Amino acid sequence: LRDARRLVEEFGSPLYVYRLEQVQAACDDLLKTLPQPSTLLYSLKANPHPVLVSALLAGGCGGEVSSIGELELLDGSTTAPRTVLYTGPGKTTVELTAAVQRGARLFSVESPLELERLNEVAARQGVLVDCLIRVNPSGPGVAGQLLGAAPVQFGVDATRMLDEPESFRRGRSARVAGLHFYTATNVRDQAKLLTIFESHISTALELRDRCDVPLRTLGLGGGFAAPYGQPGARPRYRLRQALETVLDCRLPLWRRGSPAILFESGRHLVGTAGELVCTVVDVKRSRGRTFVVLDTGIHHIGGLAGLGRTFRPALTPSPAASEPAMRADLTGSLCTPADVLSRNVELAPTSPGDTLVIPNVGAYGLTASLIGFLSRQAPLEVVLSGDEVLSATRISLDRRPMD
Ligand SMILES: Cc1ncc(COP(=O)(O)O)c(C=O)c1O
Repeated sequence: LRDARRLVEEFGSPLYVYRLEQVQAACDDLLKTLPQPSTLLYSLKANPHPVLVSALLAGGCGGEVSSIGELELLDGSTTAPRTVLYTGPGKTTVELTAAVQRGARLFSVESPLELERLNEVAARQGVLVDCLIRVNPSGPGVAGQLLGAAPVQFGVDATRMLDEPESFRRGRSARVAGLHFYTATNVRDQAKLLTIFESHISTALELRDRCDVPLRTLGLGGGFAAPYGQPGARPRYRLRQALETVLDCRLPLWRRGSPAILFESGRHLVGTAGELVCTVVDVKRSRGRTFVVLDTGIHHIGGLAGLGRTFRPALTPSPAASEPAMRADLTGSLCTPADVLSRNVELAPTSPGDTLVIPNVGAYGLTASLIGFLSRQAPLEVVLSGDEVLSATRISLDRRPMD
């Protein structure tokens, strides 16, 4: 396989490398561990690279999108997605209008106001759209990993739905088809994941029975984990049997599609497929500390997902085991003290010109970074299939006059 140094010689530094086989393997493995029938949606926010998106749709995923840009990426894919769920808090009338015009017909709806807005938009275009009310459940306590079960801008508190059920039934053009949950992310422990899914099923049944919301579709969310910026493998879950047993017991008609079950995943599908290859520009000492300055930084990696994280890159080729490690702060090359990728990490002895590889950044890498800051060029993104370069592209930010 092409190694990082060869890629740098060929394409320059820094560069993202995505390995398609890893994406396909993650997709196959996750589909195998989900109950059947169910639909797995790829969350494009993790990595919207068109080659990766096409591979995941071809592998059997639908799409979970949160912008018109992501919706357009699905249009451009070689395989049409089975199901597209449009999500996100704060969808404007302009955005909803464009989404419906572009064919979106299934929305996660985050408030009664949004339901009304979508209903008007769909009525104006003379179409019928389905809505899943996104629920912020009271949920099981897996502290630190829940986005819900706390005051958040996402979804509707389950208690509010119980108090005001009439607010969630309205809509001749935007009809409520079910419920959507997304409360957990990066959960390695499969027992915890199961507890979360079971709890969502219980909440969904309670809301169906007490608020009279239809349950033709049930989005159980995700939370499937992947290492980020650190060495390691994605977890291999074995959920299918346990989940099918719970579904058989609580929703006896689910195998006939009533309700249709949805899952979503971003990081687990693409996280381990990508690495950021970069070069050491300088190694300096300041008041007793060592700084390794890289030709990358928070404009390429981790502007969003990496805040507060410690990246652990590996030197490539690996040094001889006998060489003593050094401790250093790894920084980028931007004019801000915020441009730090890791503090006080152990590194193999490193000098200017060395190639470093930050592993497992296929998800929330470039797409979650401060790409416009300092008007630096984006790194190249190279997609490999085995040894073959399938694509080498660079995102550009150009200012165009308003149409
Ligand atoms: C609604 C929703 N779905 C899916 C995802 C993807 O999460 P992950 O990449 O952890 O699978 C997110 C992440 O923020 C989300 O908010």
